[in-house]
Amino acid sequence: MKKLEGKIAIITGAAGGIGKGIATAYVKEGATVAIIDLNAEAGNQTIKELQEYAPESIFIQANLAEHEKLADIVKTVAEKFGKIDILVNNAHASRMNSIADTTQKDFDLSFDTGFYPTFYFMQAALPYLKETKGNIINFASGAGINGDVNQVSYAVAKEAIRASTRVAANEFGPFGINVNIIAPIAKSPGLVQWAEENPEYYQGMLSKIPMRRLGELEGDIGRVAVFLASEDSAYITGQTIMVDGGSIKMR
Ligand SMILES: NC(=O)c1ccc[n+]([C@@H]2O[C@H](COP(=O)([O-])OP(=O)(O)OC[C@H]3O[C@@H](n4cnc5c(N)ncnc54)[C@H](O)[C@@H]3O)[C@@H](O)[C@H]2O)c1
Repeated sequence: MKKLEGKIAIITGAAGGIGKGIATAYVKEGATVAIIDLNAEAGNQTIKELQEYAPESIFIQANLAEHEKLADIVKTVAEKFGKIDILVNNAHASRMNSIADTTQKDFDLSFDTGFYPTFYFMQAALPYLKETKGNIINFASGAGINGDVNQVSYAVAKEAIRASTRVAANEFGPFGINVNIIAPIAKSPGLVQWAEENPEYYQGMLSKIPMRRLGELEGDIGRVAVFLASEDSAYITGQTIMVDGGSIKMR
C-alpha cells in the first residue's frame, strides 16, 4: 500500500529544487499533485515527468508575490479535485545582504515570496484541510535558526514562518490538521548557485555537516515530506524537523 494513495497535494515552488523532489516522492507514493511556480518553462517540463506517475497532476504558473491571487489558486485546485489533503509551502526567494546594506526591497522580496504566501495559503486551504484532516508542511532554514550572516531578510522571514506554524498547529490541531516545518539542507539549484558564488562559505558549511554531504532532493527531503503527510506522523505537530545531516540539533 502506497503511503499517499488518493491524496491531493498542493506544492509551491515545485518546478525545480526541493519542491520538485517532494512532488516526485509524492506521486511515487500515489498522490496527485498541483505544483505552483513562477517558472513556466521548468514547470511545464516537471509536470510532464510527474504525470508519468500521476496523470491528473497539474501545473499552475503563478507569482506567489501576487497575494490577491492565492486564495483563487487554492479554490481552483479544490474544485478540480474535490478536496485538498496536503499543503506544502516550499517556495521562497531572497537576496543576500549584510545588515548594513539591507533595504526595504530585500525584506519585501523575502516576505512577499516566502512568509505571506505561506500564511495566505494556510488560511485559504484551512476549510478544505478541515474536511480531510489534512497536513501542512512549511519551510524554514538553519540560516534563521543560527542567524547566518548576510541573510537577515531571509532569516527573519523564515523565523516568522516558524512562529506562524506554531500558531497554526495550536489553532488547527483540534480539527485533526497537523502543521510542521522542514528545515533542510539539499542539493537544489538554488543552493548549488549560492555555493558557486560563495565557495569558501560553502566549504565551511560542508565541514559542519556531520553527514558530510548535501541532502538529496527526493531521497532525503522528499521522503521526510512523505512521512509528514502520512498517517505515520499524525501525532506530530508544530515541530521543526531538521533534515540537514545533523548540522543543527534542536533542543
Ligand atoms: N536548498 C537548501 O539547502 C535549503 C536550505 C534551507 C532552506 N531551504 C528552503 O527550502 C525551500 C526550497 O529551497 P530550494 O533550494 O529548492 O529553492 P530553489 O530556489 O532551488 O527553488 C525555489 C522554487 O520556487 C520558485 N519561486 C521562486 N519565487 C517564486 C514566486 N514568486 N512565485 C512562485 N514560485 C517562485 C522558483 O521558480 C523555484 O522553482 C525554500 O523555502 C528554501 O528557503 C533550502
